[in-house]
Amino acid sequence: MKRVPLVEALKEYVKLRNAPFSMPGHKSGRGFKCDALDIDLTEFILSADITEVDGLDNLHKPEGVLKEALDMLSNLYGSEKSYFLVNGSTSGNLIMSYTCFDEGDKVLVERNCHRSIMNSLIMRKLKPVYMENTINPTLKAPESINKDYFIKLLSDNKDIKGIFLTYPNYYGIGCDIEFIIDQCKKRDIRVLVDCAHGAHFGIHERLPKNPVELGADMVVMSAHKTLPSFTQTSYLHINNKMLIEKADFYFGVFQSTSPSYMFMASLDYSRAFLEYEGKRAYDNLFDIMDKIKSKINNLSYIKVFDNSYIHESGVIFDDSRLVLFLSKGLSGHKLLDVLRDNRIQAEMSGDNNVVLLTSPFNTEEDFVSLLKTLEILDIEVIRDRDKCIYETKLPIQELIPADAFGLEKEIIPLESSLGRTVGENIIPYPPGVPMLIMGEKIEYEHIEVIKKSLSDGITMLGINSGNIKVIKDNQLCKMDK
Ligand SMILES: Cc1ncc(COP(=O)(O)O)c(C=O)c1O
Repeated sequence: MKRVPLVEALKEYVKLRNAPFSMPGHKSGRGFKCDALDIDLTEFILSADITEVDGLDNLHKPEGVLKEALDMLSNLYGSEKSYFLVNGSTSGNLIMSYTCFDEGDKVLVERNCHRSIMNSLIMRKLKPVYMENTINPTLKAPESINKDYFIKLLSDNKDIKGIFLTYPNYYGIGCDIEFIIDQCKKRDIRVLVDCAHGAHFGIHERLPKNPVELGADMVVMSAHKTLPSFTQTSYLHINNKMLIEKADFYFGVFQSTSPSYMFMASLDYSRAFLEYEGKRAYDNLFDIMDKIKSKINNLSYIKVFDNSYIHESGVIFDDSRLVLFLSKGLSGHKLLDVLRDNRIQAEMSGDNNVVLLTSPFNTEEDFVSLLKTLEILDIEVIRDRDKCIYETKLPIQELIPADAFGLEKEIIPLESSLGRTVGENIIPYPPGVPMLIMGEKIEYEHIEVIKKSLSDGITMLGINSGNIKVIKDNQLCKMDK
């Protein structure tokens, strides 16, 4: 038989999945048709996989229909200028970093940031000062940034040039960003927001405000995570006029010169959907979700996370995200597997929770099949005797990532890596937030968390066959001199 392995696997996957509660926001293509807009992208979208041709404008020099679409995007979000990104929010985070900073700049980085931001620290040779997140006691997951601690970091580091924030995080939780923007503005510190999970923010009164409107200097949004847009498509917004010239340049560096019109059409369509149909669509989604949430809350072993589980002032939660948490002794990872066996695709699991990513294109049937699965679940199947381990304190930084990058490394067993300096970012996936960043010291708790994550079936980038890359000891001596 002639093998086409990926195509065969994809075909099987698509057949088996029923209720999509993971990315992308169009939910298996359902969102590409909108009667109210009189648009059915599925009728022609595959033939629209072309790049610049006469009459269709140029993403790298928009003057016609693309300029019109981009101006409409900028109007909707309230930016000075907005861009379509065809290389994901990853490219947007790189553009922000290169636009706002010069080599050697000191920056504040929320520890909960995505690997693309951490990579930009290496590429742009920045000096990071990490901000530890407060932990939500219910989810045992990052929640916010303590305000006193934040002010102290600012006063201890007067040379900070900018700050990277993730707003919201994978759980739909975001810090008091208005407070942070206000404090940064007073000190002339640039605020860069990775709003990959919040492209829908600001469109409905039950959703948090969008950070562009709140005055962040630059904001990246993954349209594909929550809107009816193709995977890999994102928006970049600029509020600060002084950054536009540089951003234009780096946009050209980090975007393909053959952007697909299929991708860009879906970005334009998502904007139109939000603008003309967003309010109605989220009204409908919230109606369905409210009913289902109260039914899930009637079950004894599982609850729906909401604002009442957040105790810090100003912290937001995205009500359109369905975050379920379990009673003590039950495993989120095992629940994720049970859901998958029942053709329900969730986005991510934590030790005691599961994150489901919804959009207006999830149907009532999706939620009902989720509820039914939860109602008949045998909780013995998701019991977990292991204790929940969550590493909260910041790792010890022995070298900044940019310095660690250039040093010689060796590969050793994880078990014998205690006390060594890690030579590669160690990243659980999802959410893609590094647990250890190159140049940091490996401690006992890290080894334990990595072992537990592997046994829970979590993909750990940077760990291969039980081995880890560390910096050779003689290299560290060189750095000391
Ligand atoms: C917070 C955050 N930022 C950035 C990214 C990267 O986005 P993309 O996959 O669109 O490149 C992700 C991806 O999951 C993310 O979760």
